[in-house]
Amino acid sequence: MTKTIILTGDRPTGRLHLGHYVGSLAKRVELQHSHDQYIMIADMQALTDNAENPEKVRTNVLEVALDYLAVGLEPQANTIFIQSLVPELAELTMYYLNLVTVAQLQRNPTVKTEMQQKEMAANVPAGFLCYPVSQAADITAFRATVVPVGEDQLPMIEQTNDIVRKFNNLYGGSALVECQALTSGVVRLPGTDGKAKMGKSLNNCIYLSDTAEEVQKKVMAMYTDPEHLRVEDPGKVEGNPVFAYLDAFDDDKAGVAELKAHYTKGGLGDVVVKKRLNEVLQAVLEPIRTKRDELAKDPQAIMEMLRQGSEKAEKVAAQTLLEVRKAMRLDYFKD
Ligand code: TRP
Repeated sequence: MTKTIILTGDRPTGRLHLGHYVGSLAKRVELQHSHDQYIMIADMQALTDNAENPEKVRTNVLEVALDYLAVGLEPQANTIFIQSLVPELAELTMYYLNLVTVAQLQRNPTVKTEMQQKEMAANVPAGFLCYPVSQAADITAFRATVVPVGEDQLPMIEQTNDIVRKFNNLYGGSALVECQALTSGVVRLPGTDGKAKMGKSLNNCIYLSDTAEEVQKKVMAMYTDPEHLRVEDPGKVEGNPVFAYLDAFDDDKAGVAELKAHYTKGGLGDVVVKKRLNEVLQAVLEPIRTKRDELAKDPQAIMEMLRQGSEKAEKVAAQTLLEVRKAMRLDYFKD
């Protein structure tokens, strides 16, 4: 039985945080033995809005790899690789760019939102506007049929399938396969400030590599219900990130339900709930941090793992490229 192929990735622009953990890392760990999983550190994509900051991207390739291994992704079970070490992806992107219009790229909701957040407007780098196309290359190069993503990435999957259909229509054959988003069980964790999303630029993250003290400090400073002023006041659970985190991480569901009921009724202080959350998070993060610290002592071993993963990934992508070139009548020197 051949396993279903998965591709996912992260931009190496910072260390990974709890949002990544519940949003995708935990899922990847769960799927790593039942699927043929490619996990890409998207350094080329990171450069599309960090061209002036290559050192940041480079440093974070290692940080992200450490985060992967620390949460339990196994190098033997997955192909973990660096995007730029698979130049076939850039070549594929080049061919795909002809199958997409500028208007289509400008309409992409994910890109539009990011452009607004980053205040790019007319100064948007062409590479950034085109990153959904490069993402289509990432997915199709490995013939991935499943892409576990958050809801906000759905337009990327649509764009990918649009390219696949156009390609197969124009050039015939079935060099490329369509993919499906896997959004089930992908939870979005709010920021410690109560904002919808945890994001490094928002300064509302708890990182997998934070020290125990940092975690505690961040938990105790978390946003709660701003109208819950005195302990005896009834408090709101909805929109209260402390409870969202408990839902995501506390295995004692009955205990959480009790806390919620008590909080809603009044008489339960924020500090008590935060202390519980701190306990729960420390228990989740402690083994991750210990493993990460251990692995961080030998960065060369991590880089070697990435080199091997990238070599393996390149072989697979090269095979797809061969078929793509053939379909596009670019196979000049057949032997
Ligand atoms: N866009 C993803 C991120 O921001 C990274 C990524 C690059 C990716 N190529 C991909 C994710 C292909 C899924 C599929 O982290």
